[in-house]
Amino acid sequence: MNISDRQSMHGQWSSRWTFILAATGAAVGLGNIWKFPYLTGQNGGSAFVLIYIICVAALGIPLMMAEILLGRRGRSTPIHTMKVLVEETNTTQWWQIIGWSGTLAGMLILSYYSVIGGWTLAYIFKSLAGTFSGATGEFTASTFATFVGSATSLFFWHTVFMLITMVIVAGGVQGGLEKAVQFLMPTLFFLLLLMVGYSMSTGYFGKGMEFLFTPDFSKLTGSSMLSAMGQAFFSLSLGMGTIMIYGSYVPKDTSIANTSIIIAMADTGVALLAGMAIFPIVFANNLEPGSGPGLIFQTLPVAFGNMTGGIIFGSLFFILLLVAAWTSSISLIEPLVTWLIETFGISRIKASLYSGIATWMLGLGTIWSFNLWADLKFFGLTFFDLLDFITSNLMLPLGGILIALFAGWLMSSENTKSELRITNPALYTAWQALVRYIAPIAVFIVLLNAIGIL
Ligand code: PFF
Repeated sequence: MNISDRQSMHGQWSSRWTFILAATGAAVGLGNIWKFPYLTGQNGGSAFVLIYIICVAALGIPLMMAEILLGRRGRSTPIHTMKVLVEETNTTQWWQIIGWSGTLAGMLILSYYSVIGGWTLAYIFKSLAGTFSGATGEFTASTFATFVGSATSLFFWHTVFMLITMVIVAGGVQGGLEKAVQFLMPTLFFLLLLMVGYSMSTGYFGKGMEFLFTPDFSKLTGSSMLSAMGQAFFSLSLGMGTIMIYGSYVPKDTSIANTSIIIAMADTGVALLAGMAIFPIVFANNLEPGSGPGLIFQTLPVAFGNMTGGIIFGSLFFILLLVAAWTSSISLIEPLVTWLIETFGISRIKASLYSGIATWMLGLGTIWSFNLWADLKFFGLTFFDLLDFITSNLMLPLGGILIALFAGWLMSSENTKSELRITNPALYTAWQALVRYIAPIAVFIVLLNAIGIL
C-alpha cells in the first residue's frame, strides 16, 4: 500500500470542521486564558504581545503545517509516525526523537496543567459559594495564598481534574473527543465574549488596550523574547506531537495550509480576547499585572465580587476556563495513550489508566512547589517553574525545529507538496524557505540570546 493512503487505526475526523474544532480545542486552553495574561503582565505588556504575534505568524503557522503534514503522512502516534517516516525517507533512526520527546513533553506538561486545571475547578465552587462577594484585592490574594498553601486542597482538585480528563480520553477519538469539542468549543467563545463585554463597561477598557497594544520596547529582554516564543509554541500546542496525532486523523483532501491559518488565528484571537477581558479589570481595581501564575485567580475575583451578577459571571468564567483546560489536557495525553495501545496492544481504558496515574503522580511535584517545596530551588526555579521552562521554552521549540528540518530537508518536495496541496508555487517555496531556514535559525537566535551567548 502506498504510504499516503494509510489510515489511522484510531479513526478519522468526520469532517474538516471537526478537525478544526478539535485542534482549536487542543490549542485553546489555560495557555490562552491563564498563562498568556500572566506572562504578558510579567513581561511588561505590549512588546511581549507583539513578539508573540510575530512568532505565531512566522514560526507557528509554517510549523503547524509541517506537523500536521507529518502526522497525516505517518497516520499514527508521533512515535510510530516518525518511525514510518524515517523508513520512508531512509534517514537515521535518531529522528524518532521527535516522537519520543514530544510524547514525554505532553505528559510533563499535563502533570502541571492538571494542577492548574484543579485550581480552576476549585474556583468554580468558591465563586458559586459567594466567597468573593464584596472582596478586596487583599482578600483575594490571601484566599489564593491560603488555597495554594494547602497541599491537601491542591491534591484533591488535581485528582478530580485528572480523573475527569482520563474518563474522556478513555472514551476514544470518535466518541469522547469529538463529542466533547463539538459541545464545548462554542460555549467557550460565547462566555469569553461575555467577559469582554463586561470589561468594556469598567471604564478602563482603553487602559487595558493600551497596555496590550502600544509597544514599549524598553521592557523587552532576551528572556522575555524566549518566553514569548515558548508561549507561541505552548499556546498552539506545537513541537510535541499533539498536532501530529490530530493530523493523523485528518482526511486526505483537507487543505493543511488553510486549516493551520484558521487554527492559529482562532487561538491567538482567544488569547487576545482573554487579555482584553482581564487587563481592564486589573486596572479598574488597582491590581498588579505582573503577579505571576496567580494573576487571574487573585485579580478577577475582586471584579466578580464587586459587580452585579458577579456570582454568575465569576462562576461562568471559571467554567469557561475548565472547559478550555479539558480539551487541551485530553490532547496532551493522547500521544502517550495511543502509543501504549499501539505498542502493547492494551485497551484504551487501560492505557488511559496507566498514563493517568503516572502523570498524576508527577503532578505532586507541582503541587508541593507551591507549599511544601516552595523554598526548594533548582537553578533558582521551583519545581513547577523548572518544568514549565524545560517544556515550553526548550522542548517545544527544539521539537519544533526538528519537525521543521525533517519536513523541509528530509521529506521529498514531491511528497510535502502532495500532502500540503498548495497549488500556488510561490506559496510552497515560501513555506519551504520558512521551515528549512528561517524557523530553525530564528529559534536558535532566540535561544542563544536568552542564555546570553548572543
Ligand atoms: N495549547 C494548550 C494551551 O494553550 O493551554 C496547552 C497545550 C496543549 C500545549 C497541548 C501543548 C499541547 F500539546
